[in-house]
Amino acid sequence: MNIHDLKGKIILKWLNYKEHSKQILELRRKVFVEHQGFDMSFINIEGDENYLHLGAFFEGQLVSMITGVVIKGTNKLIKGLNLPETLGYKLQPTKRAELKEFRGTRLAELISTCMWKSIVAVYQPDYSFIELIEVHKKLGLYYSSFGYKLDSIVEFDGFKLNVYIQNNDDINNSYKKFKRLEDVISTIISVKIPSLSNHLEKNPEILQPEKNASTNNNLYLNMLSFQDELPRLLAQGRLLGVIQKNLIETIDFPKAPANLLDIGCGPGLYLFSLRKKKKLKGYKFSGMDISNDMISFARLSYRKIAWKQGSIYNTKYDAETFDVIHASFLMIHLATPEIALKELFRILKPGGILYIVDVNDSTFEGPKVIKKMINKHTVYYEGNRNILNTLPELAKSQSFDLIKKSFATVSNLGFENEITMKDSVLKLGRMKMWAMFAFISQREDVQSYYQKAEQHYFSTECEISIQIQTQVYKKI
Ligand SMILES: C[S@@+](CC[C@H](N)C(=O)[O-])C[C@H]1O[C@@H](n2cnc3c(N)ncnc32)[C@H](O)[C@@H]1O
Repeated sequence: MNIHDLKGKIILKWLNYKEHSKQILELRRKVFVEHQGFDMSFINIEGDENYLHLGAFFEGQLVSMITGVVIKGTNKLIKGLNLPETLGYKLQPTKRAELKEFRGTRLAELISTCMWKSIVAVYQPDYSFIELIEVHKKLGLYYSSFGYKLDSIVEFDGFKLNVYIQNNDDINNSYKKFKRLEDVISTIISVKIPSLSNHLEKNPEILQPEKNASTNNNLYLNMLSFQDELPRLLAQGRLLGVIQKNLIETIDFPKAPANLLDIGCGPGLYLFSLRKKKKLKGYKFSGMDISNDMISFARLSYRKIAWKQGSIYNTKYDAETFDVIHASFLMIHLATPEIALKELFRILKPGGILYIVDVNDSTFEGPKVIKKMINKHTVYYEGNRNILNTLPELAKSQSFDLIKKSFATVSNLGFENEITMKDSVLKLGRMKMWAMFAFISQREDVQSYYQKAEQHYFSTECEISIQIQTQVYKKI
């Protein structure tokens, strides 16, 4: 069997241990006992019902799986393996089992990647480690390509174990690699990645991540500086004003008095401009951003708005505070958008409006060399720059109803000193348009692609365009 034979036939699922224990143990038995000659004690892990199991089903049968053990603080295992004792989470991928027929299909790689990536995004572990028994030693080479380094060889539970650690820096570097692998393999097999946070919600017996595990992560500003980004964000705020001018008029907003929150508001220019909309007369406006710099700038520049520093994952607002929540150019920067949606659902009133605007990289049109830069960046970026392709489904699973969808195509066919918008096409000058992509040059992984793209852009008269999409939801 090869990877193409799996297309459309695989379902990935987080497994509730009690419900699936028979299939889990049978698969482990076949692989570890029947094929690899271990004894039956090898198929159980103490505490299995509290761990995370990701499985792949082929025509209804569990054919491949992996277990993720998440540990908080220190326990017997950490001590026994001489691992660093920290207060935070540690991830141990273990018991990867797959039927022989599926070897060479890359299914095991997809499962490991997906499990690792989901757990890292939700728990933000201090480090990850694996223990390989002697016969599995050669797997160490595979894991080293993801930053796992041999830490020690210890005797534990009667086995000689090779212990590998992937520290925090290695985790961050590997996130991009794992994300790319997951994208590539899941696209070929055409499989949907299941949500870990939904699984955790339904299975309280599993160690739950502290609410703030991913809260303080600002993927957007991790790589960029506030000073460099400010002019770009102010320009983006103006652009947004032009795109939304007519669209806003078509939306049936709740009647005033009402509360509107702009989450991920950046320097606040756009929220400030919303205050002047006739449609929103009588509204009270609030702005939240995770960055202290952004909020300080907004507070100094625009008064009469309730600015607050905080994260979309844990806003600390009371339940059902807002009638409207607006988020522009934020969703693409989230590693766990479903957790963010849950929080927005909580603070939105029933019948309230969620107004999302974002760029969608998958709509980019232009010369190959520039498209290549965009694609590389999309794949390497830790957020999801095509999130608007899947957001409607994700939002539906959180009880949001999509009530309006619209897009504007931004092109470089305009004049430098004016922005024009006609029939959903917004025209910028060549320089202004390129400035919108300048942040890509600051990412090391993509720098060489950026340089080639930039050289092409400025030595030809090529046209480029990309869509900025709006999706408006109602809380059911
Ligand atoms: C590209 S900017 C968009 C700013 C503004 N909404 C706009 O449309 O111009 C993204 C903003 O999201 C903020 N951000 C990133 N992660 C966040 C999080 N978890 N919660 C709240 N804001 C976040 C960043 O600090 C940044 O100001």
